Amino acid sequence: MDDRPLGIFDSGIGGLTVCKEIRDLLPGENIIYFGDTARFPYGTRSIDTVVRYSREITEYLLSRNVKMLVIACNTASAAALDILRAEYSLPIIGVIDAGARASCDRLKGNKVGVIATRATVNSGSYVKAVKSLCPGIEVLQRHATIFVSLTEEGWLDDEITRMTARRYLKEIHEQGVRTLILGCTHFPLLKKAILDEFPDIDLIDTGVEIAREVRALLKEKNLENEGTAGHIELYASDITDTIQRLKLMFFGRDGSEIQKLEISG
Ligand code: DGL
Repeated sequence: MDDRPLGIFDSGIGGLTVCKEIRDLLPGENIIYFGDTARFPYGTRSIDTVVRYSREITEYLLSRNVKMLVIACNTASAAALDILRAEYSLPIIGVIDAGARASCDRLKGNKVGVIATRATVNSGSYVKAVKSLCPGIEVLQRHATIFVSLTEEGWLDDEITRMTARRYLKEIHEQGVRTLILGCTHFPLLKKAILDEFPDIDLIDTGVEIAREVRALLKEKNLENEGTAGHIELYASDITDTIQRLKLMFFGRDGSEIQKLEISG
């Protein structure tokens, strides 16, 4: 038994989709979540900046004695996972490997699609991760930046969102993609709109996948905290309407309110 918390972070609200999956699968774990809403979005920033932000957040979470770090942001995982692993000794897990592994396990055909922020697409991290697990597979990527804004706006089940899905995905669907990684932690909120347009595509939700990996890693390292009474602390660098709305959607009125926490180097 190890009752130290898991540290989870994201550029803002998207990581709450990951947090929710981890909470549902591992209700005994204590969690500290940090969403960097004041410096959101990460997806349009340079790698150096995203690494710096990720390092600052890691330092904070370490100061809170977390037992494991979960990077619940594809952009930060792409930019900083390897660097943070080299610099810190605690177990660190990122969404990209989890998503890549699931896409290979559930592969339909010989092509994997990825939709993500521009920074994640440009990093080539998904291409590298999928190809290292299942060589010979073609990976077709599209940056889907507008999806981030639609999620932030709360237009989850909306004609504009369905239209945007058609625009982003028509081409790769015609090219044969039937397994699609939602390579941004905002995107699981758009699953319904995407499936309305492309019901034959299998969507890989990296939150669901990483929750399973967190469970396996905790077990392997003997770090589990069993039971159902885990406590969650939510922090954000700015308390925006969007994060309040998402918090209500996922965690209701129960539990702690989001607290403002400014992090800088
Ligand atoms: N949550 C981020 C990700 O998964 C997307 C939003 C952003 O651009 O910061 O990449």
